[in-house]
Amino acid sequence: MSSDLADPVFDLRDPDLYRHPHPVLHEMRDRAPVHYCPELGSWMLTRYDDVGAALRDPRFHAVEEHKKVDVLPAAVRRELAPLRRIFMQWGGRDDPAAHATFLRVMKKHFTPRRVLDQQPAIRAIMDDLLTTALAGTGPVDVVNDIAHPLAMSVVCRLLGIPAAEIDMDLMLRASNGISQLLEMAELEQLRRSQQGMLEMGAFLAPYVAAARRGAGSGLFAVMAGPGTPLPYDDDDVVAQGIMFTVVGYHTTANLLANGIQLLFDHPDQHRLLVDGGPAGLPAAFDEMMRFHGPVSTIRRMVLEDVPLRGQVIPEGDTVMLALVAANRDPAVFTDPDEFLVRRPDAHKHVGFTVGPYSCMGQALARLEGDVFFRTMLTRLPDMAPADPVPDWTVFRPLGKELRTLRIRPGRLRPGRVA
Ligand code: HEM
Repeated sequence: MSSDLADPVFDLRDPDLYRHPHPVLHEMRDRAPVHYCPELGSWMLTRYDDVGAALRDPRFHAVEEHKKVDVLPAAVRRELAPLRRIFMQWGGRDDPAAHATFLRVMKKHFTPRRVLDQQPAIRAIMDDLLTTALAGTGPVDVVNDIAHPLAMSVVCRLLGIPAAEIDMDLMLRASNGISQLLEMAELEQLRRSQQGMLEMGAFLAPYVAAARRGAGSGLFAVMAGPGTPLPYDDDDVVAQGIMFTVVGYHTTANLLANGIQLLFDHPDQHRLLVDGGPAGLPAAFDEMMRFHGPVSTIRRMVLEDVPLRGQVIPEGDTVMLALVAANRDPAVFTDPDEFLVRRPDAHKHVGFTVGPYSCMGQALARLEGDVFFRTMLTRLPDMAPADPVPDWTVFRPLGKELRTLRIRPGRLRPGRVA
């Protein structure tokens, strides 16, 4: 470890940093773009070019999370063995050949054209959720009434779980427990993560078994159905199912809710988007991803010593790639701290990452964003926040997410959205 390189100016454990990380990240990008953070036990890269290069560089290995378990005492390692095993089964990430097979088979189901087939179903889910939320007596909570159940329903449908059989409470509870693995991961978080994995795994297992018998649908049928080219046993497929809910649900739900909050924080941009109509949604989606994407940092482990900008990142060290900082790099984005729904180059953001592990579900996330924002902005053109202060909580180092977002719907435009 190179703790002698520590720069005391930056304290990334500061509990309030997540509220306003950008002044610190701008300074770090300028003064210490390859920075060892002793408080995180990790290096941090903040420049757009460095983050992009690391994401494409095979020396930066995508599997890192197991290290959180491996450093613990033997008894705890035994206790957390299921979590480690399930994590290592995700997408075959520990073995480049297995990962390549996973990508080859799965990517066919995530092309923009295949994804578009899901549009009518996603619209129907969105309409139902909004109608139910508006029928209640209190304010609509965008986070819990709409964004989270929408994103979870879409993932479950994708896996092949019939809508009527989704145990929404269990899936949301388990998935939110699991995603604690992605944070700094203290021991209690790892335990909650494992508990969520086991709970969700028990719910998913019968659908995987049905797919194995030829009676399944969706991605479970692709991964376990007769003639599947993937060499997975049922436990492996359950682990992939868990992965899909974690990577596909929590991220999307946060993007949708953050996006509404961003519009409330920037009323001129909100108006611009409402007045400009749905044609402006794709650029606005990218700007939301750039300005406050749901994934703030991505971890990698270096497989050999990596010299970079006068430093050497030693083999075995963890590197945090600060997407949150890369997306505000003034070398790439003019006035990076301005939120502009018509920013012409917002699509250059790295919120889905780039390179071999980049987001497989981005076309689906974009479609969900299109349906969600189109519906909200068209049916509720005057919506406004019901609470004076946003209900943020910290998520991951440098990230934040909304616990609730209550709105006053205002004038309601009728009907389904075309
Ligand atoms: C706004 C929503 C989303 C965001 C911000 C997001 C972000 C990401 C990021 C940053 C990664 C890359 C991790 C890395 O480089 O190590 C990733 C990977 C992945 N995402 Fe997404 N994602 C979103 C939605 C989805 C959806 C809806 C799905 C599918 C249901 C999905 C499926 C995946 C998969 C399968 C991977 C792993 C790919 C691999 O192992 O090569 N994501 N996502």
